Amino acid sequence: MADVVIGLDLGTGGVRAIAVDLQGKPIAQTTRSYPLLTPQPGWTEQNPADWVAASLEALSDLTQKLNGHSATALGLSGQMHGMVPLDADGKVIRAAILWNDQRTGTAVDAIETAIGRQELIQRTGNPAITGFQLPKVVWLQTAEPQAYDRLQQILLPKDYLGYVLTGEAVTEPSDASGTGCLNLARQWDADILNALEIDVGLFPAVVESTAIAGRLKSEIASRTGLPAGLPVVAGGGDNAAAAIGLGISSSHLNRGSLSIGTSGVIFVPCDRPVPDPEGRVHLFCHADGGYHLLGVTLAAGGALRWYKDTFASKLAFTDLMEMAERSLPGARGVLFLPHLAGERSPYLDPDTRGAWVNLSLAHTQADLVRAVLEGVAFSLRTAMEIVSEITPVHQLLATGGGARSNTWLRILADILQAELMAPSSEEGAAYGAAILAMVGVGAHPDLEAAFEILPQDNKVVQPQANPAYEAAFKRYSLLYEALKAVR
Ligand code: XUL
Repeated sequence: MADVVIGLDLGTGGVRAIAVDLQGKPIAQTTRSYPLLTPQPGWTEQNPADWVAASLEALSDLTQKLNGHSATALGLSGQMHGMVPLDADGKVIRAAILWNDQRTGTAVDAIETAIGRQELIQRTGNPAITGFQLPKVVWLQTAEPQAYDRLQQILLPKDYLGYVLTGEAVTEPSDASGTGCLNLARQWDADILNALEIDVGLFPAVVESTAIAGRLKSEIASRTGLPAGLPVVAGGGDNAAAAIGLGISSSHLNRGSLSIGTSGVIFVPCDRPVPDPEGRVHLFCHADGGYHLLGVTLAAGGALRWYKDTFASKLAFTDLMEMAERSLPGARGVLFLPHLAGERSPYLDPDTRGAWVNLSLAHTQADLVRAVLEGVAFSLRTAMEIVSEITPVHQLLATGGGARSNTWLRILADILQAELMAPSSEEGAAYGAAILAMVGVGAHPDLEAAFEILPQDNKVVQPQANPAYEAAFKRYSLLYEALKAVR
């Protein structure tokens, strides 16, 4: 039986493990979920022990589904930005604080006072951002000093899992650049850490995303059925790994990805680390040795789900899309600001809120739904315009639940003025982690060679110019500031 490589994505809702053969075909997959803890409003945490238990169960289940195939490597991917604090014995000191936690407002101010916002952007590609790991460390220093005193090592979520699996604590650039203290030369920035009185030795060694991070410990092997000594490849943050799974590389500029899940994410590779001077979109290292820009609209599919749950719970998403078709481009004047969960790009503002405006007695549910779909697209266009000033982008691989709707794809293509390509199958970040692992163990000589095995059948949507969208976008661009006054 042929060899397979396993990719594992440690997500926020759960873990997904997939086995992929060396021709890129998925052979088996499995998922396990774990709880999200919200001890206070705006706080999000998870117990690393829950990640480990779920991951070992998932790996054991996957092993049983391999039908005689043998696993030759495991690659890791995971939710970015989280903080796992470990003591001198490698034990977890407190629950992990996650990427969508908002407790660190004061720490963000402290970082920008100590280093300066412009300096931070020039050094790391980003300003201080509440979700990133560094503000969490600063928060721990002041809010939980006893915990901070015991701190020996700070890991990102997937790197903690790698440490449990292999005993080796390392990270790689795509995830490490989401901490807020890795500089654009892919090294921990000692000046930033010194200014904050944080020991650089708390952070793990940075290896390449395709490097072997360690080998599976025998006790883990016996619990999962995987071979002891299995190479575990460092992998990538979930966005970078998903991009690798779609073949998006910094040697093919112009082509990025657009994911419409709960949030909407625009991922655009670039060959040089050029940050947005105002930090309105993120700049991170890509897992292929290059860099990428990332724009995030926090409520994308999430905004449509909110609409459905709140106003149309008896309807299916397909009914909502048909309804939106009965309105017109520009939603007959109705605009929607999708800031239902605060916003990241281009406004780093956890307190901004959503709205419909310009309603009249003549408007119907069709206009309201269409305005939601268009509002998400306008929000993404704002991010995309900033990205395009730095690096051109004409083509986006569209993924996530929202990309399964022809109606939404057409709206997105016309508003973003980009060619959208929707792959017929998509396996997400776990699949990309498997591709990185294949390269890590030499099953393919490099990522470019590995991209040859990716499925190529895409549905293509060409953009059409529509003056109604251009006029609506001009008005949309004024909404955020206008609504700030009535918060
Ligand atoms: C990216 C981000 C999320 C997390 C969660 O900046 O915050 O995409 O990686 O999966």
